[in-house]
Amino acid sequence: MRVSEEKIVEIRKSVNIVDIISDYIPIEQKGRNYFAICPFHDDHNPSMSISPEKQIYTCFVCGAHGNVFNFIMDYENVSFYEALKIVANKSNIELNIDDYNQNIEKRNDNNNLYEIYDFAFKYYQNNLLTKDGKEALDYLYKRDFTDEIIKEFGIGLSTKNKLTKVLLNKGYKNEDLLNSGISSFNDNIYDTFIDRIMFPLWDLDGKVVGFSGRIYKTNDSSKYVNSKESEIFKKGNLLYNYHRAKQFARRKKSVIIVEGFMDVIALYKVGIYNVVASMGTAITKEQARLLKKLSTNIILCFDGDTAGNKATLSCSKELTDIGIYPKIIRLPSPLDPDEFLSKYGKEKFDEYLENPKSLLDYKIDYYRSITNFNNSEEISNYIKNVLSELNLVEDKIVKEIILKKLSDETNISFSTINGLLKENTKKKEKKQENKVTFNKYEKAERRLIFYMIRYPEVIRIYENNKCNFPTKEFRFLASEIIYYYNKHNCLSIADFLSYLNDKEELLEAFKKIDTLNINENYCYEEIMDYINLLNDYSIKERIKSLTKEFKKENDFIKKTEIAKEISELKVRV
Ligand code: GTP
Ligand code: MN
Repeated sequence: MRVSEEKIVEIRKSVNIVDIISDYIPIEQKGRNYFAICPFHDDHNPSMSISPEKQIYTCFVCGAHGNVFNFIMDYENVSFYEALKIVANKSNIELNIDDYNQNIEKRNDNNNLYEIYDFAFKYYQNNLLTKDGKEALDYLYKRDFTDEIIKEFGIGLSTKNKLTKVLLNKGYKNEDLLNSGISSFNDNIYDTFIDRIMFPLWDLDGKVVGFSGRIYKTNDSSKYVNSKESEIFKKGNLLYNYHRAKQFARRKKSVIIVEGFMDVIALYKVGIYNVVASMGTAITKEQARLLKKLSTNIILCFDGDTAGNKATLSCSKELTDIGIYPKIIRLPSPLDPDEFLSKYGKEKFDEYLENPKSLLDYKIDYYRSITNFNNSEEISNYIKNVLSELNLVEDKIVKEIILKKLSDETNISFSTINGLLKENTKKKEKKQENKVTFNKYEKAERRLIFYMIRYPEVIRIYENNKCNFPTKEFRFLASEIIYYYNKHNCLSIADFLSYLNDKEELLEAFKKIDTLNINENYCYEEIMDYINLLNDYSIKERIKSLTKEFKKENDFIKKTEIAKEISELKVRV
């Protein structure tokens, strides 16, 4: 069942966004607007403004932007429909929707997969409790697993080649079983996992979507084998333990990321629950985004070996790209969190946890550790590396502390190093200036849409003078705006945002435009200038493509026709 647009508007209007946001975070009033520390990036000054008039919020640093539903979706990490329910509940508005409303289609398509994993999940768990499971269970006990932990993490055991047969008898087809990765094929269909301790892998909602199997009695084959990726299991799109860690991360206002799921479980054993694992591969952009959703206070605790160091650097890079500066724990080499805990215990681990390094200090320590201070070139590189990190630092005191230390340890004068830093800063500012300029057509399309959102007259001017938008996302956005406007005869930004809830790309495009920092007022000539400019653009593009055609064309008559069309167009621009 879908919820009507009218109902969505009714629910939105039943609350004041200022009240709702202030239930989650402290806000303060300044003039007509309210301000808050933005919960969606690593914010230190109140960068988020909330407009009671427009019923939307905007962060002018990270670009977070939306109506009351968007705020709840991003803060609570829930779907649009769940956000609707939360607001409806607060206002005692009746709303009957299926929890999984938006997932139903996807679910039906992959029903077999979910069922197979669910069956295998129970089957493996049961094996562990039979006499075949004794040796595996001993292995787990030796690694400090308790029965509660085994149950909580759904740990099981694959034994001799039997599960495939059971599933075939239940009526599943070879194809389904091979798709799930539970079975493999080589002359015959057989169990992928035999004699491995089975760890279920969950998706973000806590449904089993795969397994990782660990050897426990031999040493000869690969330590872990994962079931293969499928429609519903993409390793780079999930984090181990995400669904459980969600509530704890929120409560603790931080999340810890480790490399292996064994490390997650090891932390769990000692009562640290706000933890997820990347499962051994480099963090993807999507995983970085998921982490940021859990908390903006992210602590990296990778293995103490060289690989862990590399993982720390690459994960930090993905996080800084989306505005998060993680904190870093470096365990003594080569221990992973699990090994550290069994060797030194929880109290020692807590000491590390309470004193994570800043990313800046971590990087400087790293650069220092790879530098041979008897080699002048390496010293020079060391200084350059540190200075390039310092470029990103705003805090003048932090800068001075590090420069002093750098000068002391390299015996290069403070003023020389400071001079270098200043040069770098200038270069960086130049680069930034070059980066964020749009060409005049891009500016025109953005501005035109900016005013279309705000003024129905501008929509009318546009409709009377039609023009083309060079960028695909803005072209689609403009047609949605017109469609919406014609349907409702008005356009409230807060409601238009609800309308875009299932159109992610358009929502992103909309955010880019609605957060432009330009004059709220327009004049007719200005709008016509944009429209004319965009028309010029279309003509120029047409000329470009005709010119290409002209060059390729061999037929003389056709060539002449193309040339004629080009010269006619040229008159118009
Ligand atoms: P234990 O040795 O059981 O303590 O596990 P660990 O967490 O210390 O494993 P390790 O640090 O070696 O690896 C971290 C993560 O990488 C694991 O959780 C797995 O997801 C993954 N991984 C490790 N070894 C393999 C392997 O041989 N094959 C695959 N596919 N993944 C592996
Ligand atoms: Mn380990």
